[in-house]
Amino acid sequence: MLILNFTKFPVLETERLILREHALSDAENIFKMRTNEAVMKYIDRERPKDLTDVKTFITTFNEGFENGDNLAWVIALKENPNQMIGSVGYWRTDYANHRAEIGYMLHPDYWRKGIISEALKRTIDFGFNNMNLHTIKANINVENDASRQILIKHGFVKEAHFKQDYYFRGKFLDSEIYGLLNPKH
Ligand SMILES: CC(C)(COP(=O)(O)OP(=O)(O)OC[C@H]1O[C@@H](n2cnc3c(N)ncnc32)[C@H](O)[C@@H]1OP(=O)(O)O)[C@@H](O)C(=O)NCCC(=O)NCCS
Repeated sequence: MLILNFTKFPVLETERLILREHALSDAENIFKMRTNEAVMKYIDRERPKDLTDVKTFITTFNEGFENGDNLAWVIALKENPNQMIGSVGYWRTDYANHRAEIGYMLHPDYWRKGIISEALKRTIDFGFNNMNLHTIKANINVENDASRQILIKHGFVKEAHFKQDYYFRGKFLDSEIYGLLNPKH
């Protein structure tokens, strides 16, 4: 059985990081990240207009957790747990097939320090061993080489290339799908 309805939000730790629940006090940092064009370059989603949009987004995340639909963590450094520097999480959960999609983003001040790798290692382990996922999926813009390389580094393999399957801002974009199988199943 796939498990997403944890009674308590599963706070995770790694050597340098704490992965915790989203709080309304993260709104400003989320706004900065989701309106930063370097971060959003290959994330084909509308940017939040203001803090109200972000607060709605946080509430939706937290309700999604309570309903067992998704599980999204804020990434913070252990030395400063209140300051959100990124996010990682599972969404688009496909219960019937024990599959969920992983997503991640990090503020550019922290890029190339192995932070998302550290967060992915922990959340992939949690996904397979605590949520009982059978497969993890990732969906990238075909030009997002940083994301492609990090997925490959964590053992994901390319499963599909969909041609013009995603409409965003007046264009039909291609998607690349990556997958990772639970090694214990
Ligand atoms: C993609 C992203 C999450 C990487 O985070 P990060 O913490 O800088 O990545 P890491 O330092 O853990 O890098 C791990 C590996 O990923 C690959 N990688 C990371 N950034 C890369 C880049 N700009 N170009 C090519 N490969 C890259 C490398 O293989 C790297 O290993 P190495 O440093 O030993 O060469 C970050 O660049 C980001 O937030 N980008 C914008 C948001 C985004 O596109 N999210 C993914 C949506 S699908």
